[in-house]
Amino acid sequence: MAACSSIPDFALQVVKKADRITVLSGAGMSAESGLPTFRDAQTGLWERFDAAALATPEAWNRDPEFVWSWYMWRHHLVRATAPHAGHLAVAQWEHSADVTIVTQNVDDLHERAGSSHVHHLHGSLFHFRCAQCSFAYSDEVDDSEPHESPRRPPRCQRCGGLIRPGVVWFGEMLPSEPWEAGVQAVDSCDVLVVVGTSGLVYPAAGLPQIAHEKGIPTIEINPDETPLSRECTVSLRMSAATALPILARSR
Ligand code: OAD
Repeated sequence: MAACSSIPDFALQVVKKADRITVLSGAGMSAESGLPTFRDAQTGLWERFDAAALATPEAWNRDPEFVWSWYMWRHHLVRATAPHAGHLAVAQWEHSADVTIVTQNVDDLHERAGSSHVHHLHGSLFHFRCAQCSFAYSDEVDDSEPHESPRRPPRCQRCGGLIRPGVVWFGEMLPSEPWEAGVQAVDSCDVLVVVGTSGLVYPAAGLPQIAHEKGIPTIEINPDETPLSRECTVSLRMSAATALPILARSR
């Protein structure tokens, strides 16, 4: 692994020649759109909020209004942001390559930038389902300010159960469809770009190992070193909105 503060020619060439590009993204991908990551010092969500009280089935069972209100706040935050130059660069690759995004993010910034194949390993802030019967909920949700007062989750039209966010909580299984698509996309690509993830949460953090074992070139984009850095062919110590447009211009 080489750590670089500018993009080496090798990385530009690998991206230029690739017919199939897979991007594994994490919260750092959305940071320059103004969304907080989870673990960055001071600003990370899990630095400011207790994950056990907000992102577990136990938390939901204990206090669904509290959990729902927090997700409505995040829903509101995401709707108020826009994709940045890095999201747009990745979407542009589709003009000349097969591009698959495998994301841990629950926002919709890749889709809004124009990417068509996005697999959400940890679910989506924009999908909802009944906590009791799993029936999909497609009505509008109220994410309007102020966020201080607790919001009541809507009720299921089918069984009357409470509607929950369609995200994966700690202790829950990943949905099988995006996971299998993600493994396939990593296994069959010509280059893997790993951007904005701390590489601490499994099974998503295990995906670069698949590329590593197959000898697939892997480019990490992250201002900081991560446990994944050693599995990557090159680690660009740059931000997503800086590095991705430069890589995209190589095509
Ligand atoms: P983390 O918050 O753990 O890591 C974010 C990473 O992005 C860090 O390594 C930062 O150094 C990096 N970063 C920050 N700004 C960046 C920028 N502008 N450009 C590039 N990289 C930047 O977020 P994730 O790895 O996505 O799961 O976290 C994984 C999972 O943990 C999340 O999906 C979430 C969380 O608990 C669930 O909620 C199930």
